[in-house]
Amino acid sequence: MKEDLLQLKEQYLAEIDGLATAEELEKLRVKIFGKKGDLTLLLRGMGKLSKEERPVMGKLANEVREELEELFNQKAEFIKKEDLQKRIAEERIDVTAKKDVIPLGHRHPLNRTMEDLEELFQTMGFSIESGPEIESVKNNFDMLNSPENHPSRDYTDTFYINEDTLLRTHTSPVQIRTMLSQEPPIRMVSAGRTFRFDDVDDTHSPMFHQIEGLVVDKNVSMANLIETINVFIREFFGEHIKTRFRPHYFPFTEPSVEVDVTCFDCGGKGCPSCNNTGWSMELLGGGMVHPNVLRNCGIDPEVYSGFAFGMGVDRITMVRYGIDNIRLLYENDQRFLEQF
Ligand code: PHE
Repeated sequence: MKEDLLQLKEQYLAEIDGLATAEELEKLRVKIFGKKGDLTLLLRGMGKLSKEERPVMGKLANEVREELEELFNQKAEFIKKEDLQKRIAEERIDVTAKKDVIPLGHRHPLNRTMEDLEELFQTMGFSIESGPEIESVKNNFDMLNSPENHPSRDYTDTFYINEDTLLRTHTSPVQIRTMLSQEPPIRMVSAGRTFRFDDVDDTHSPMFHQIEGLVVDKNVSMANLIETINVFIREFFGEHIKTRFRPHYFPFTEPSVEVDVTCFDCGGKGCPSCNNTGWSMELLGGGMVHPNVLRNCGIDPEVYSGFAFGMGVDRITMVRYGIDNIRLLYENDQRFLEQF
């Protein structure tokens, strides 16, 4: 019997060692220790042994059982660890793996120009303000001293939503919003979308973009306006571009100016694109804020004065990048946009 026991032990030690899964291990456990397991059956045979042999065999059998159980536990622990390692290895996600990469886009040339303009004015001490594209008639016209009969108020020129609400025709209502919500000194720019009832052609679109500037403080003069514009043009377009200020009319500024700059195509010599004048016309409008506008916003024109200016961002984007058709800015053709 002793031989049987030791042989059983050797056989199972080797077998346990060779197992690889928890199921196999469990099967073998039943086969050895189960009710009808080999070891159980063997021990049952102890009844047939003599009184002297029984305790010796009993001790040995216990040792064998303990040894086998110990190995079982070790093996179970080992298999558990290995399973975990395997799972971790299998479930790992390789974040560096390149599959279908979605190409990243970039800023639209219009947005880039708008942001560059804002940034330049920021370096000159201007803050950035914004206003809604759907605006009140009051802010867009009345508060800006625009007379009832002014042609820009006509429904053939402006998109009305109802009698009191419209798509803003310029960014100038942001002047009003800023003066109503802030005390002077004010120094702000505001860029965004504007809308007019224009037919589409190479240089016109019913939706376009403007950037507006406003300065209100004590002792602000026309000289400040001219210097600010000159610095801006020089910084944005370069030293070689000259400015020309012409008298003009806007309801909300007095006096008003329109600003021309050296023709971008010929540098001022004269060419077909500038009708041989050497000047690129009407890049910018501006003037001294009309006392009525200051008064409308609760600012005393006897104490404060200001200047304002506005310009078309689409036009600036076009001369900046050499784009000859405004439609290209709105068609979202990637073959065009990819170039910027
Ligand atoms: N709002 C004017 C326009 O759209 C431009 C402008 C702005 C003129 C500020 C004077 C002062 O034409």
